Amino acid sequence: MPAELIDGKAIAATIRADIARQVAERQAVLRRPPGLAVVLIGDDPASHSYVRSKTQACQEAGFVSIQIDRPAQTTQQELLDIVDGLNANPVVDGILVQLPLPRHIDPDAVIERIAPDKDVDGFHPVNVGRLALGQSGFVPCTPKGIIELLVRSQVPTRGALAVVVGRSNIVGKPVAQLLMRKGPGGDATVVVCHTGTRDLAAMTRQADILIAAAGQPETIDGSMLKPGAVVIDVGVNRIADASRARGWRLVGDVAFDSARQVAARITPVPGGVGPMTIAMLLQNTLESAQRRDPME
Ligand code: GUN
Repeated sequence: MPAELIDGKAIAATIRADIARQVAERQAVLRRPPGLAVVLIGDDPASHSYVRSKTQACQEAGFVSIQIDRPAQTTQQELLDIVDGLNANPVVDGILVQLPLPRHIDPDAVIERIAPDKDVDGFHPVNVGRLALGQSGFVPCTPKGIIELLVRSQVPTRGALAVVVGRSNIVGKPVAQLLMRKGPGGDATVVVCHTGTRDLAAMTRQADILIAAAGQPETIDGSMLKPGAVVIDVGVNRIADASRARGWRLVGDVAFDSARQVAARITPVPGGVGPMTIAMLLQNTLESAQRRDPME
């Protein structure tokens, strides 16, 4: 029997509706709506598409949404000045500088300039450290969304062997931290695989939960899975497809049709992890607003 789909789009829609309700409750007691500022430098088409989705989701949830678009020639100092302005702006609860940045800008310098209490991406070293130490802080949106998908889909994580493929700062490392935390969505035994892993398939075949976040199209197929595994595909890869009007289609890091024959449950691409990332960005921004301007 082919794997059941984990419908990230539907789960994200439920979360977003819940967030919109909480925003309305805040406004009913005369609290300001949460505010998110998104900064986009340059003209990468994928980044423009992500930012459009984020801005639209903010508006639908009743947030104040500020979008700052600047050309690719923007200097690092100009971007740092924009961040300083947003740090000081009282209507802004969350700041997101869309990555990747043009090559002449050091992303670490920009991320470190964002006030940690407005860093809704969870990329600032202070928030990365808090996550590593088990302290409360902003958790990066994609890993947070993955845990939320597992919990809401009632996938048991306690004692499960979770194999993460990919060691990025944005997904691989933080999702491994979350899976090994104590509590719901955690308590897993975690293995992190990467380009230095000797026999990837030997590792992935042991996984009860496989998190594919390698950034390579369709690299995990059914032959690399344990029958009955739960597969979370974080990949967002554009591959050429002349049969589509736009000339490309999205595929994940997992070869979906092959994996579906072996796994018990699997997230589709698109419609799996992607919508959860946006829902968690709204969640982090709402939490920031509640911390900065509480209801009681
Ligand atoms: N580029 C791709 N994913 C992300 C993300 O989650 N946050 C930011 N800031 N940039 C990204």
